[in-house]
Amino acid sequence: MLRLFKSALLAAALVCSAIAAPMPQIVKQGKKFSLLVDGKPFIVLGGQVNNSTGWPSRMQEIWPVYKALHANTAEIPVYWEVVEPKPGEFHFEAVDQIIRDARTQNMRLILLWFGTWKNGVMDYAPSWVKADTVKYPRMLDSGGKPVRVLSPHSETTMNADRNAFAAFMRHLKEVDGDLHTVIMVQVENEPGSLFTDRDHAPAANKLFEGSVPGALTTALKKNAGTWTQVFGPEADEAFAAWHVAKYVNEVAAGGRKEYGLPLYVNVWLRERKNFMRPGEAYPSGGATSNMLDIWKAATPSIDVIAPDIYVMDYAGYRAVCESYGRPDNALLIPETGGFGAFARYMFYALADYDALGFAPFGIDRIGAGTVPDGVPGVSAGTSIADLVRPMMDNYRLLGPALDQIAAWQGTGKLHSAVEEDQITERLLTFTDYEVLAQFGRTESSYGGTFASGTARKTGRAMVSEVAPDEFVIIGFDTTVRFEPRRGSKLKSAQFLWVEEGRFENGEWKAARRLNGDETFFRLNLPAQGAILRAKLMSY
Ligand code: DGJ
Repeated sequence: MLRLFKSALLAAALVCSAIAAPMPQIVKQGKKFSLLVDGKPFIVLGGQVNNSTGWPSRMQEIWPVYKALHANTAEIPVYWEVVEPKPGEFHFEAVDQIIRDARTQNMRLILLWFGTWKNGVMDYAPSWVKADTVKYPRMLDSGGKPVRVLSPHSETTMNADRNAFAAFMRHLKEVDGDLHTVIMVQVENEPGSLFTDRDHAPAANKLFEGSVPGALTTALKKNAGTWTQVFGPEADEAFAAWHVAKYVNEVAAGGRKEYGLPLYVNVWLRERKNFMRPGEAYPSGGATSNMLDIWKAATPSIDVIAPDIYVMDYAGYRAVCESYGRPDNALLIPETGGFGAFARYMFYALADYDALGFAPFGIDRIGAGTVPDGVPGVSAGTSIADLVRPMMDNYRLLGPALDQIAAWQGTGKLHSAVEEDQITERLLTFTDYEVLAQFGRTESSYGGTFASGTARKTGRAMVSEVAPDEFVIIGFDTTVRFEPRRGSKLKSAQFLWVEEGRFENGEWKAARRLNGDETFFRLNLPAQGAILRAKLMSY
């Protein structure tokens, strides 16, 4: 009897603590955005599965991949065509099983609503939407030809998507409103239109000839006028962006009313090496960098506009982080590359741009086979396991330190030090010290000691000043040296102590103290990675 009573109490306590867990949310404190999960800042170390992997049976093969990657969050699609095979008839069995399995795996989920738009087309709309082109009209291109994209001007289509998305969010609340295994939802996927810059149907043309809505000109601080007067050569794209964004916002608002999880929209970027033609090089009307202000004005029900960053060069990658991580928008990278260079770009995103999360796309492939022909920047036949190892190493090393990294973000005292072509050293400036990070072998020459770079550009680190004269350095294939900050009267810096260790439940656990050969010339982060903590003095 007593035992029964005790377990009833325990069950009640568990239920209470589950109910008490606050909703995931995105907040801004000072200049810094945070994603709060269970009331604490959470950084998504994610991975997105391939498009047709959102099935429990297929996921059984993928959960071990997440484990091998050391990810904390799985990004998995939910398909409108599967959820609502007939109008008003909803099926959430697959979603429910995936949520249960994620709990067993101790993983969080970000679910991706593949609705009206998927990569600038309509392929995930249910067949009853696809088949009825009168009720659910397609966009017309400038020649009047219908394309494979639903028109954002149809209230009927919007209501159908909103209704389905609301049913999905209502269901999520029922099955996960206490435990919050699902921490965020993506609304649509890379919305906008391929094949046309905007809808050229007669009703849309009429709207286009009219004035830009006052709400938009006011938000953008522009004078009133027609779309062409206000936006000049970008008028068609701006018109598309406003209407697509308003539509997506309506869908989001419908879902949010049911269950207030953080919502984001992902973007097929225009920053690729191509002619920047909206509707050709990228979906027109998406939240590309040139349309971001319009999207922000149109989407109060969406927390974050999130770039899918496949830009291969580091300057381009950083530029995208810079343009999406802005005072009114947190940086979240829901899709990116998983190979080679992207492993070091992760350090920029987390340390320099305070990213809420980072997730390579197509993690199904990890560990399997070799690269086929035609993958940019990689020779065919290279082992995929080798290619993704740096990313797996990142997750393994950074995973246990995420609470700390989240706390250091936004302080101005966290910086990346990343190797690039011809960039073999980085000089970082902190309150009283300068830190010189170097990659590869070093050699003395006129003017100091210079580094040669590593064979495969694997040098990547982040340095945080965690207390006065105290630093944590995390990374791979990097050496670091300290000097008093330039301009200081002090001439020399010396270690009081250096430790190598790890973070465990927010606590620093030193495994050993480093001294002698290990600290005399410089500190060293080896190829397999390390976390060092160093206390200095200067004199
Ligand atoms: C971006 C899309 O959002 C994903 O769903 C997927 O199609 C990838 N592109 C493929 O590279």
